[in-house]
Amino acid sequence: MNQKKTDKVNMAVIGLGVGRWHADSWTQTANTRLVALCDADEKKLTQAKEHYGVKGYTSYQELCEDEEVDAVSVCVPNYLHAPISIYALEHGKHVLCEKPLANTISAGEAMVSAAKKSGLVAMVAMKFRYTNEAVYIHRLLEEGKLGEIYYGWTTYLRQLGGIPGMGGWFTRKPLSGGGPMIDNGVHFLDVLWWLMGCPKPTRVSGATYAKFGPLGKGASGWNRVPEPDEFSVEDLATAIIHFENGASVLIDNGWAGFVPSEVIGLRVMGTKGGATMWPFAVCEESEDGRVSTSVPDLTGSHVDTQFFHFADCILNNKTPISSFENCLTVLKMLCAVYESADAKKEVEIL
Ligand SMILES: NC(=O)c1ccc[n+]([C@@H]2O[C@H](COP(=O)([O-])OP(=O)(O)OC[C@H]3O[C@@H](n4cnc5c(N)ncnc54)[C@H](O)[C@@H]3O)[C@@H](O)[C@H]2O)c1
Repeated sequence: MNQKKTDKVNMAVIGLGVGRWHADSWTQTANTRLVALCDADEKKLTQAKEHYGVKGYTSYQELCEDEEVDAVSVCVPNYLHAPISIYALEHGKHVLCEKPLANTISAGEAMVSAAKKSGLVAMVAMKFRYTNEAVYIHRLLEEGKLGEIYYGWTTYLRQLGGIPGMGGWFTRKPLSGGGPMIDNGVHFLDVLWWLMGCPKPTRVSGATYAKFGPLGKGASGWNRVPEPDEFSVEDLATAIIHFENGASVLIDNGWAGFVPSEVIGLRVMGTKGGATMWPFAVCEESEDGRVSTSVPDLTGSHVDTQFFHFADCILNNKTPISSFENCLTVLKMLCAVYESADAKKEVEIL
């Protein structure tokens, strides 16, 4: 891994949708500075350049020639994660790529190969791993306080109206890789799997449903029946995932459905204790055998944000917690959910 001698990493952002959050973060993070922006949309680029007062490019290839840039945030639609991340790595730039790693397993594998070949820092922006609650639960796991983790569960369901970017890349399977399972489910499965100690997945049984999107329902501000290629993803997916160590995960994710209000939840269950996020709580057995539930006070506790962690890995020659290689397994589980749903049977993960 390249080691830098300066105390700050010079960052650029490619793609200025959620990339604006990255740009804000690079200006606010102690070990980074924002030096350049890139968006193929000239209007967006001009607005952002004026806002941040930095240079801009409409071509990511030209941005990657800029020697002032040490590293890039890749914040473009999912199908562009692989070509742009690989190009950046081949041109000497460390990469923080938005989730999911890629829209297909083969694209994800190519990214992992490029990262290995480059020796640079290549990380996926799995933001939930870098939260106070997740780091607290992960520490309990590492200290053995939860015992053997045998079950995990997570849900995130939106009401009707929650389909994002209807008709655009989000709802076109060849561009996104899928609907809510790969879009939001990736975050929930990622942090749950990490809190379970990243066991090796072996088998997946999934089901997907598209009950609203194809009718033109479920997206706010959309009022016609989409063409089939405009909505070719699910609007709800559910799965059970089995692991080599015997543990399993139950997950569902939906963009649109009749739920009383948005539903969000995650839990890990071990032989000595358990924990939940949303709401955050820890359940343990005390020495006298009684079961107690608490909400640990995390006021004032500090964990590194994903942005600080990424730069810290560059400056101090560390491997990121959510490396491309680590997150390829998450992508494999998500793709297996779709494969199983299409095949209408359980599938194996190799
Ligand atoms: N972590 C999160 O909470 C979060 C939230 C939203 C989106 N995302 C992820 O971020 C990525 C982008 O999502 P978004 O909602 O910002 O999408 P978006 O469509 O709003 O923005 C993408 C931007 O990329 C630009 N772009 C497209 N092709 C380009 C190219 N070849 N070169 C340069 N710029 C190009 C577009 O002009 C656009 O401005 C996706 O992978 C998505 O899954 C993550």
